[in-house]
Amino acid sequence: MKKIIIINGPNLNLLGKREPDVYGATSFEDYFSKLQMTYKDVQLAYFQSNIEGELIDKLQEVGFSYDGIILNAAAYTHTSVGIGDAVKAIETPVVEVHISNTFAREDFRHVSYISAGAKGVILGFGLKSYDLAIRSFL
Ligand code: DQA
Repeated sequence: MKKIIIINGPNLNLLGKREPDVYGATSFEDYFSKLQMTYKDVQLAYFQSNIEGELIDKLQEVGFSYDGIILNAAAYTHTSVGIGDAVKAIETPVVEVHISNTFAREDFRHVSYISAGAKGVILGFGLKSYDLAIRSFL
């Protein structure tokens, strides 16, 4: 059974409540349950933190044993050299995901410190971006 983890960064714990016009009205917990039902033959895990160092700790913890990491570093995407370095340091391939099309938004969202170390990037498909990322590992 493949082991895949979804790692979500800051403010994504508020999905469903936060700017629903941009990020939708579904909580991530509800969406994650649907993913688990859809991909019964995948061992899916989920971690969320608002703290940069905790995201780095989790990447290091899973980054040598999991088959895939789906990372939405949220705002840290655009600022964090540390998370970008962690993505490069680990062995497990990382797919960078964003719910919104960051290129259709403010200029500061056009920069990513994650992409250079990522296997690929999926963005702009709403929560479906996570589903597409899982499929990329299967
Ligand atoms: C986001 C896009 C980021 O620019 C933003 O800071 C987020 C969410 C997305 O999934 O669309 O928090 O990563």
